[in-house]
Amino acid sequence: MSKHALITGITGQDGAYLSRLLLEKGYEVHGLLARRGSDTLWRLRELGVENEVRMVDGDLTDLSSLIRAMQASQATEVYNLGAQSFVGTSWQQPVLTAQVDGVGAINVLEAVRIVNPEARFYQASTSEMFGLIQAQKQDEKTPFYPRSPYGVAKLMAHWATVNYRESHGLHASSGILFNHESPLRGLEFVTRKVTDGVARIKLGLAKELRLGNIDAKRDWGFAGDYVEAMWLMLQQPQADDYVVATGVTTSVREMVEIAFRHVGLDSRDHLAVDPKFFRPAEVDVLLGNPAKAKAKLGWAPRTSLEQLVTMMVDADLRRLRK
Ligand code: NAP
Ligand code: GDD
Repeated sequence: MSKHALITGITGQDGAYLSRLLLEKGYEVHGLLARRGSDTLWRLRELGVENEVRMVDGDLTDLSSLIRAMQASQATEVYNLGAQSFVGTSWQQPVLTAQVDGVGAINVLEAVRIVNPEARFYQASTSEMFGLIQAQKQDEKTPFYPRSPYGVAKLMAHWATVNYRESHGLHASSGILFNHESPLRGLEFVTRKVTDGVARIKLGLAKELRLGNIDAKRDWGFAGDYVEAMWLMLQQPQADDYVVATGVTTSVREMVEIAFRHVGLDSRDHLAVDPKFFRPAEVDVLLGNPAKAKAKLGWAPRTSLEQLVTMMVDADLRRLRK
């Protein structure tokens, strides 16, 4: 019998990579489709799985639609990836972010509990919950200190996941994922803004790249590697929480240099810092310790930052040349 998965946020970066992974494993893949943008299926199309997944209309803020999605998909594994995921926007839309990212996760947990409490649940938690870091290397035991409305909402969802596991016995796991990128990353996030900007400058379509805090440091990995960790978590006999990271941190400035170097340009000739892109409160540095995921899941990242950035620049050059 084939396994059935329901993915919220299926049209996002991780949703696309996870769909492809689960289809390769023989799953019937269902996705919650919120239908907001004009071409929301472009990522699934780029990975060649647009016609392989089955969509069910719904929204994370609408419990009844989630109950119907659980019923229609007959899901035995539920991956809650849907979110207002851009940290910068969360200061402009704190209530929406709380409703979608915080209450939305509780809505999915309720739908699982009501329709099929045996189904396994994955919550897309985030290193943004560590915020003002309380340990040099963050792991599952590091105290949280979120620095944005996004981080606060995600912390609610994280603890709700732990609570449903402890109080209702759900197989509910939380992946505390550090930043992960790919050619399918949204243009608002810094890595893709940089690789798209560098490709434009290389092709003579732009002259300058304007960024905010280039001293911020992140632990960046490849989304294609990280969705494997999500799946592995739901294959374990016991639900648990795991940090998923590379264990290497790099500044935005260094990331920018890698991208320019790849196309034979010098970042100093094109980079400008614009206070417009600074945030009201910053997460200065993130660095994860993925030892538990390695020991218990047998998971390890396979893609270096250099490989990731060059893959993204090449993809943007290809897109722009078209
Ligand atoms: P993404 O590309 O921004 O995708 C977000 C998805 O959520 C989209 O499919 C979007 O649908 C959907 N969505 C937004 N509001 C919704 C609503 N009200 N109801 C239903 N769906 C809604 O994000 P991602 O990078 O793939 O990340 C996946 C998840 O992991 C997110 O929860 C994110 O917060 C979390 N996370 C990401 C990272 C990272 O570095 N990428 C790290 C840690 C945690 P539309 O296409 O219709 O807008
Ligand atoms: N977006 C953006 N644009 N960020 C910039 C810019 C810019 O022009 N200039 C500097 N930065 C800095 C931000 O201030 C931040 O410190 C860092 O680059 C990374 O920003 P983002 O790429 O927007 O990612 P994020 O770390 O805030 O959030 C991402 O990772 C989280 C996991 O830690 C998102 O994917 C979240 O959804 C995810 O939870």
